[in-house]
Amino acid sequence: MKYILILLFFAFVSNAQIEKEQLDLMPWPQNINLTAGTFALSKSFKVNITGDPNPRIFIGATRFLRRLDGRTGLFLEQSFLTKINESPEAELQINCVRNGKIEINQDESYTLMITSNKITINATSDLGALHGLNTLLQLLQNNSTSYYFPTVEITDSPRFTWRGLMIDGARNFQPVDVIKRNLDAMAAMKMNVFHWHLADDQGWRIEMKKHPKLTELASDGNFYTQEEIKNIVKYADQRGVLVIPEIDVPGHASAFLTAYPEVGSKVSDGKVAYEVQRNSGVFNATLDPSNPKTYELLSEIFDEVCPLFPSAYFHIGGDENNGKEWNANPKIQEFKKKNNLENNHDLQTYFNMQLIPMLKKHNKKLMGWEEIMTENMSKDAIIHAWKGTNQGLSSEGSLIKAAKSGFKTVLSNGYYIDLMLGIEKHYLNDPIPKNTVLTPEEKARILGGEAAMWSELVTPLNIDSRIWPRTAAIAERLWSNENVTDMNSMRKRLKTISFRLEGLGITHIRNKEVILRNISNNQNTAALNDFSNVCEPLKNYKRNGGGKKYRMHSPLTLFADGCTADAADVFDFDTAVNNYLENKSQENQTLVTNFLKKWIFMNAELIRLSANAPLVQPLLPLSKSLNDLSQQLLLKIEKKQIINSAVLNDLLEQCNSRSSADVELAVYNSLKKLL
Ligand code: ACM
Repeated sequence: MKYILILLFFAFVSNAQIEKEQLDLMPWPQNINLTAGTFALSKSFKVNITGDPNPRIFIGATRFLRRLDGRTGLFLEQSFLTKINESPEAELQINCVRNGKIEINQDESYTLMITSNKITINATSDLGALHGLNTLLQLLQNNSTSYYFPTVEITDSPRFTWRGLMIDGARNFQPVDVIKRNLDAMAAMKMNVFHWHLADDQGWRIEMKKHPKLTELASDGNFYTQEEIKNIVKYADQRGVLVIPEIDVPGHASAFLTAYPEVGSKVSDGKVAYEVQRNSGVFNATLDPSNPKTYELLSEIFDEVCPLFPSAYFHIGGDENNGKEWNANPKIQEFKKKNNLENNHDLQTYFNMQLIPMLKKHNKKLMGWEEIMTENMSKDAIIHAWKGTNQGLSSEGSLIKAAKSGFKTVLSNGYYIDLMLGIEKHYLNDPIPKNTVLTPEEKARILGGEAAMWSELVTPLNIDSRIWPRTAAIAERLWSNENVTDMNSMRKRLKTISFRLEGLGITHIRNKEVILRNISNNQNTAALNDFSNVCEPLKNYKRNGGGKKYRMHSPLTLFADGCTADAADVFDFDTAVNNYLENKSQENQTLVTNFLKKWIFMNAELIRLSANAPLVQPLLPLSKSLNDLSQQLLLKIEKKQIINSAVLNDLLEQCNSRSSADVELAVYNSLKKLL
């Protein structure tokens, strides 16, 4: 009896404690009605599917069962699902009205109802049902002994139809397993477009059966075979994700032209015309728009690439053509005149328009970076905005301009996660800011947004830590109501979500230890970890010294590669400093001084490690600066000593140094407040 009372007490407590704000859901659903009750999980828990869905829901429901079992250890009895209405008595009933199509502008809505003895997911199609299953997994709660779902009714649908992630497989090649684990994470965050950047100056990454030279001469042996591509497209389809390929032309063509210099625009001097680039940056290599052979070759390439991808859109890049080779080539200048093309932009539009029928032959429409937007461009094209919206800019951004000009458009400006900026910047970057004046038709042309993961500074070892968890915040911006903007709520939920991403195979947490262990030379990594929690990789591409410091084959196993944006202790230290400055209680003081003491101890440890770890040496100057300032601040705060402010300022500016190890000390601004 005593035990029953205790159990009842715990059941009551755990139940009464749950409030909507405590749920770690991301992206936050449109409507949540939480009630006081629970659905208790047991090993007899089963799923049943009714309606007329695409069979991907059977695989999705099976995946759900395995994840649920992995988290609860219940040894669930149901193994896998293969058909409609297999277990009519099941506690979880999923009904899908129809077969979902992997395209944009599909109905992805779902309702999820949990009562004390039954769970129901109703969706128009399997796409919404998959989203519902992901929400259900995020709702899982536990007390000290068991797992349960809160009773709740959720109705949900996305704000934007295009919720994308671009991965650049061209610069540093990203193998199949990297792509697959990221597709898993995307699906968990209800993202639905994977944009695959397959060719650039630094590599051609897709097998061409008719043109094997492209990978033989321009890929360093790393490329996706057509079988691998088909396999990934299918894997994405099973998760409700559309794959859009990108072959970047006419610029960004160094790799392409290394294999086929005869269609380049460079005036030949009899020497080797082109080579695959190993640096980062914008290069001159550009296809020759005046040469019929260029179009023959592209047409043959599209004939091989298009059938691999069922999507209705094909991304042709189109960005950053600097025009230098065109300007220097008299034949191209003459072609321009003959065709009444006033400038290079018009010439590029001419080139782009030749691609439209090649794509149309495969039922595909053209998508391109914002440079393709000219008056004469077909209004069927999607404009991919990457340089600017109208946020904070006096001139109108390309996203808004595209929408007003009659183009469908997708936003990536503000979602460049390779810039290594903090999460807040991306989270609050709304494709349609509140003050935007657009007609309903114009608004509807803004399809959504896409996080952009360029791969100059990432390998399979660290790419996940650049994509996640920040992309989860972008996913919420694109799915949830525009009023879901509370940073504290987002940060709190993201802690759990980030940890859950690991369960999907994302390596952003665990690979940090792999990198730090390499740096420490297999010594204890605690001090390196402490330091990485206050250091962030240099932002805005400053790390790469004009694109030349790191070549495509340079090591990306260094301290900056183990560090991330939003370093773990930065926010907490800033909060501690703010609280202390507002109220100098002993408790608040201790929270600040504990950090200072930790960094002094850390510095001593790093010096000790460095005796047998050359890779630790570059960290010592910055660590010493933090140590020296922390020592003085401790004297000031604990011992109430008066420290010469010029001395403190001098020490602080040492902490602002960005010369060593390609990182910045991200607690600099908080330390400054303590002076
Ligand atoms: C781009 O970042 N060049 C599209």
